[in-house]
Amino acid sequence: MARLRNEDGSKKGKVCSWCGKAEDLVKKLIAGPDDVYICDECIEVCRNNLLADDNQITESFTNSVPTPHELKEFLDQYIIGQDDAKKILSVAVYNHYKRIMNPKKQIDDVEIEKSNVLMIGPTGTGKTLLAKTLAKKLKVPFAMVDATTLTEAGYVGEDVENILLKLISNAGGNSGLAERGIVYIDEIDKIAKKGENVSLTRDVSGEGVQQGLLKIVEGTVAAVPPHGGRKHPNSELIRINTENILFICGGAFVGLDKQIARRVVEHPLGFGAEGKSTHEYKLSELYQHLHPDDLVHFGLIPEFIGRLPIVVCLDELDRDALRKIITEPKNAIVRQYQASLAFDNVKLDFTDDAIDAIADTAIKQKTGARGLRAIVERLMTDVMFDIPSLGGNNKVLITRDVVERRRNAEVEKMAA
Ligand SMILES: Nc1ncnc2c1ncn2[C@@H]1O[C@H](COP(=O)(O)OP(=O)(O)O)[C@@H](O)[C@H]1O
Ligand SMILES: [Mg+2]
Repeated sequence: MARLRNEDGSKKGKVCSWCGKAEDLVKKLIAGPDDVYICDECIEVCRNNLLADDNQITESFTNSVPTPHELKEFLDQYIIGQDDAKKILSVAVYNHYKRIMNPKKQIDDVEIEKSNVLMIGPTGTGKTLLAKTLAKKLKVPFAMVDATTLTEAGYVGEDVENILLKLISNAGGNSGLAERGIVYIDEIDKIAKKGENVSLTRDVSGEGVQQGLLKIVEGTVAAVPPHGGRKHPNSELIRINTENILFICGGAFVGLDKQIARRVVEHPLGFGAEGKSTHEYKLSELYQHLHPDDLVHFGLIPEFIGRLPIVVCLDELDRDALRKIITEPKNAIVRQYQASLAFDNVKLDFTDDAIDAIADTAIKQKTGARGLRAIVERLMTDVMFDIPSLGGNNKVLITRDVVERRRNAEVEKMAA
């Protein structure tokens, strides 16, 4: 019995059944059945206790590393198209975790080095979604960071090490778990070296940030200030080994395709001999001819490129892919609106033509699948404004004309 009684028999304030601390001395007291309570501090102690045995975690994790096939199948549920990318990533991730799970097993003294990943593909084609979905399937901590927010040590902005802090925090504060996580660094193409890329507007040198990233990406024991921000000489630091963290860097690398095309398609000795012109090649076909020098030319430093040996290319999403994205994935936009309007007893339908029109609008915007939600949201606003006032049992049909804003959606009363 955790609750003591006052002299008159009434119950006293609640206390933790484990350490006996009273409710007002702890941050949170969680109730179990029969007046049993546990405080936040005791939960923390129990949790650390459970996680203390690192080997045990490794064990359960080993048994559950999904095969490349399983990984790809999972990715297929959420990501449309990008088949090559999904395959390469599935193999890379499987190999990465296989290597971690067998740290001491060396075959013929061959030490397998970590293989981080570089993802190249236009905006809104699924780079972030791929990285996130992989982490979800693997049940490992995941952190995402935008490279443009990073600065060289000493500048105002985020220190490179704060990426690790994010990962630790997403691992519930357990740096052991964080050491097996996945970090996705977005917009890696925006930290190009100054001078190489004319569109560069940052005053902090991208090269310095790349140098900073280099260390944690290749594997080091980093010291992270527990509360983020600048390192303070007196503050204690969290140590974290980044050797087993999988780094996936992604970027659009605008113009890189043209650069490769100039070399391999338009060059007199290139394979323009096939008779195809540049725009007839898919991005992934062009990127098969990517050479590290192309990336150097783009402003990445060679050491950094060397740490990202696996290159994955994503294709532009065509109309068909966009159509599928609108209607097919588990959490497809259309399904979400249908479910939402079902609460108002309204049946929502889109004609095929309407779906085409949405896809075409997205193609014009050149933001890949990223703009789809906004497009649908905008056209659904009027419908969602009116529907709740009309009473239930209605049918709404979205046609191409509605998408192109030439008329309002038709609302039809359904037979009760
Ligand atoms: N291949 C795809 N399959 C399904 N949805 C996608 C795909 N690509 C993009 N999306 C949708 O567009 C949104 C933005 O994609 P994102 O992965 O952030 O693009 P980026 O390549 O710019 O990182 C995603 O949240 C998802 O809803
Ligand atoms: Mg992204």
